[in-house]
Amino acid sequence: MKFFVDTAEIDDIRDLAATGLVDGVTTNPSLIHKSGRNFFEVIAQICDIVDGPVSAEVAATDFDTMLAEGKKLAKIANNVAVKVPLTHDGLKACRALTQAGTMVNVTLCFSANQAILAAKAGATFVSPFIGRLDDIAVEGMQLIADICTIYDNYPNFTTEVLVASVRSPLHVLEAARIGAHVATVPPSVLRQMVNHPLTEKGLAAFVADWQKTGQSIL
Ligand code: E4P
Repeated sequence: MKFFVDTAEIDDIRDLAATGLVDGVTTNPSLIHKSGRNFFEVIAQICDIVDGPVSAEVAATDFDTMLAEGKKLAKIANNVAVKVPLTHDGLKACRALTQAGTMVNVTLCFSANQAILAAKAGATFVSPFIGRLDDIAVEGMQLIADICTIYDNYPNFTTEVLVASVRSPLHVLEAARIGAHVATVPPSVLRQMVNHPLTEKGLAAFVADWQKTGQSIL
């Protein structure tokens, strides 16, 4: 399973990338707004830090402008994945950008039918938003299971399922059980996954016992 980190905060990306856990990054207009940074500068900086796909989202909603924006974003770095919304025009832009050799992440996916269309349009990634489905009492993880089953039925579908709108370590665990290709995880959730009270307790005991030996490794 690949981990992308869902943020536009450079300090978080640098810190987490140093663990080797970060296979890519996803951003969206809200995360760019939150960062307070210039869009092009921040995407270029992230692409320097992380070798894997870095999602940069178009702002337009019509095909022609999405395509022009996508082409411009793709020029920032070789590892940019252009993010387009799962709309009729977004799927057209997906197809055109994919045919031009650009990675495309089709975002705002909320149904298995939409995911089928993204795969047929040649998307590199499809992003089902599970947290936002959970918020309206629809089981987001069931959507992930459905999409994975459907994609497995058709080996010519090469689109990777990128689990998005992840809110907890349990989301990541369940996505991994299902076999989703990628989870894009907020930095706070990735850090939560590291922690376990028995690890902390065990480490405290080892540190205390080591001190009692009076020895030093260095
Ligand atoms: C994914 O690419 C999106 O940026 C993100 O996962 C959305 O998450 P949210 O529903 O927490 O805003």
